[in-house]
Amino acid sequence: MNLEGKSAIVTGAGRGIGKEVALLLAKEGASVVVNDPGVGRSGEVTEDKPADEVVAEIKAAGGTAMANYDSVADYANAGRMVKSCVDTFGKIDILVNVAGMLRERMIWNMTEDDFDQVISVHLKGHWNMCHHATKVMRTERYGRIINFSSDAFKGAVGQCNYSAAKAGIIGLTRSIARECGRYGITANAMCPMAATRMTVNDAVIAGWKRRLDAGLLTQAQYDARMAMPGPEFVAPMVAYLATDAAEDVNGQIFHAERSRIHTYYFGEEARSIFKQDDNGMFTVDELISMVPEGLMQGIPNIAPKEDSK
Ligand SMILES: NC(=O)c1ccc[n+]([C@@H]2O[C@H](COP(=O)([O-])OP(=O)(O)OC[C@H]3O[C@@H](n4cnc5c(N)ncnc54)[C@H](O)[C@@H]3O)[C@@H](O)[C@H]2O)c1
Repeated sequence: MNLEGKSAIVTGAGRGIGKEVALLLAKEGASVVVNDPGVGRSGEVTEDKPADEVVAEIKAAGGTAMANYDSVADYANAGRMVKSCVDTFGKIDILVNVAGMLRERMIWNMTEDDFDQVISVHLKGHWNMCHHATKVMRTERYGRIINFSSDAFKGAVGQCNYSAAKAGIIGLTRSIARECGRYGITANAMCPMAATRMTVNDAVIAGWKRRLDAGLLTQAQYDARMAMPGPEFVAPMVAYLATDAAEDVNGQIFHAERSRIHTYYFGEEARSIFKQDDNGMFTVDELISMVPEGLMQGIPNIAPKEDSK
C-alpha cells in the first residue's frame, strides 16, 4: 500500500471520478473524507446521499472513511471540512478537488446565475478548499493537492463559464505550487476524460446522434465517444500524485484516460516578433503584415465565419 497512514479529503467523491479516486486512495491505505452533497448534474439540490454509499463501500473493503455533505462553494463549510478531517484523522496530507457541475449555454443565452454558480463551485470551491488545507499542510510541511481542471480550459462551445473556471484552476494550481513547494506541498492539475453523468448522458448522446446524422461527426468519432472509458482509469494517476514518490512533481498539468496519460506544455512562449527601432513600439500597419507573416503563419482560425443560412 502506497498511502498507509495518510489522510485525505476527496471532494465530489460520491460519484464519477471522485468516487473512483476515494476508493483507490482508501485501497492504498489512506483514511478518506468522502465529500459530496449529492447535487444533480446542474448543481440542483436532491435527496441523494452518494457519499454514504462510497463510505460504506470503503468500510466493507476494510478501509477507513467518513462522509461529509457540505458544498465546496461555501467558504466556512470548506474550512469545517478540513477541520473535521484533522479532528478525525489527526491531519490532512492529501486534498483532491473533484467536485463539479455544469450549466451549459451559449454565452448570449447564459444567465448570470449560470456563470456565478459554475465559477463558485469550480474555481471558488477549489480556492476555498486549497486555502483552508494549505493553512494546515504548511504547518505539517507536507501536502499533496490534486485539482481537477479539464481539456475545456482550451475553450469549449457552450461552456464558457466552465472553461473559464477550469483555466482559472490551472493558474490557481500553478500559483499554489510556487507558493507552497518550499513547505513540502505539491499541487498538480488533472484534465480527465471519462464516461460519467457529466460527459455521457441521454441528452449528450442525442446531441452526438444529431451531429452524426447531419454529417458533423463521422461514424468512427461517434463510436469513440460512445465507447468513452470509465472514471476508474483516471484514479491511478491521482493516487500516484498523492504518494511520497511524487514529491518532485509540482505545478504540472496532466490529461488522463484509459491507456494514456500526457502532460500539457503550458505557459511557454510559442512564437515571437520583434521591433528594435522606434523605442520598440509596433505600429498597427506593421502588425497588419507582421502578425500573419510571423506570429500567426500557418495557424488557422479555430472557428471561421460561416455564410448565414
Ligand atoms: N468526466 C470527464 O470526462 C471530465 C472531463 C473534464 C473534467 N472533468 C472534471 O472532473 C470532475 C469530476 O467530474 P465527473 O465527470 O466525475 O462528474 P460527476 O457529475 O459524475 O461527479 C461530480 C460530483 O461532484 C459533486 N458536486 C457537485 N457540486 C458540488 C459541491 N458544490 N460541493 C461538493 N460536491 C459537489 C456532485 O454531487 C457529483 O457527485 C469535475 O470537476 C469535472 O469538471 C470531468
